[in-house]
Amino acid sequence: MKIYVLGAGSIGSLFGALLARAGNDVTLIGREEQVRAINENGLHVSGFEEFTVHPKASLYAPSEPPELLILSTKSYSTKAALECARGCIGPGTWVLSIQNGLGNEEMALKVTPNVMGGITTNGAMLVEWGHVRWTGKGITVIGRYPGGSDPFVGKVAEVFNASGLETHVTENVNGWKWAKTIVNSVINGLGTVLEVKNGFLKDDPYLEAISVEIAREGCTVAQRLGIEFEIHPLELLWDTIERTRENYNSTLQDIRRGKRTEVDYIHGKIVEYASSVGLEAPRNELLWALIKAKEGQSR
Ligand SMILES: NC(=O)c1ccc[n+]([C@@H]2O[C@H](COP(=O)([O-])OP(=O)(O)OC[C@H]3O[C@@H](n4cnc5c(N)ncnc54)[C@H](OP(=O)(O)O)[C@@H]3O)[C@@H](O)[C@H]2O)c1
Repeated sequence: MKIYVLGAGSIGSLFGALLARAGNDVTLIGREEQVRAINENGLHVSGFEEFTVHPKASLYAPSEPPELLILSTKSYSTKAALECARGCIGPGTWVLSIQNGLGNEEMALKVTPNVMGGITTNGAMLVEWGHVRWTGKGITVIGRYPGGSDPFVGKVAEVFNASGLETHVTENVNGWKWAKTIVNSVINGLGTVLEVKNGFLKDDPYLEAISVEIAREGCTVAQRLGIEFEIHPLELLWDTIERTRENYNSTLQDIRRGKRTEVDYIHGKIVEYASSVGLEAPRNELLWALIKAKEGQSR
């Protein structure tokens, strides 16, 4: 399959490397240092598996349309990245977001009707330019956005599974996106404000109760919007905390590195959607504001 990965950072490089190793025609679109490293020495993967591949890497999307364009920038870069890549998105190209947060697929829908949403519980970290560590082996769920089916979704899942990325197809990807965003609103919200590892949110009885309250707030908004869940967000929350109990969440890691966070697309979107259906989301609003303040302090 001809695949472009738009945003050759941590997760994009992992997906790109695995897909290239399986023989797909992969081009990674990324920043200068990453593109140079890949073109000079290849892309090295360590962690769950160790190998080096030599996919194409470029600063810009080539003009020839791919069959699949994987969106793997941070959510705040999606709009600009799609504008840059717009020229390569042909009538037969599908765009798949594997990003966290809400709103990325809507941005893609402005460019093409062929949009897939996705969530992935794989973990990846760019160790240095040209070297990505597969830090957590998880699953990926993809589906036509906001819902429904298309034969191409199944084809992509086949290609992903053949590459070593365990992938499942859903007809309700928006339900999955909301469930994961609600989980992130708790873990990234509380975990960042308190600067604690994920496991502490479940071990401390006060925090466990607050976690439930934050998750319930997101669920109320989702339900008012008519979103149905394939997995209850609380079940996904406790499972995610168990699997990642020794980790610090990505928002806290971003703040510690002085980087922008994705909270506008997690808490910010829950607040925005709440308001669109006449609800308030005060817990998410508070976490959003606290993290924006922390973000401002660290930059
Ligand atoms: N890492 C994980 O384990 C993981 C797991 C699941 C989901 N996710 C989600 O996946 C998304 C990406 O996360 P990440 O950790 O991979 O982020 P990341 O390491 O920051 O990677 C994103 C890369 O895209 C680049 N980029 C941004 N705009 C671009 C453009 N127009 N053209 C080319 N490159 C561009 C960024 O460069 P600059 O930094 O210079 O902008 C960065 O190198 C996020 O939504 C995240 O929540 C990540």
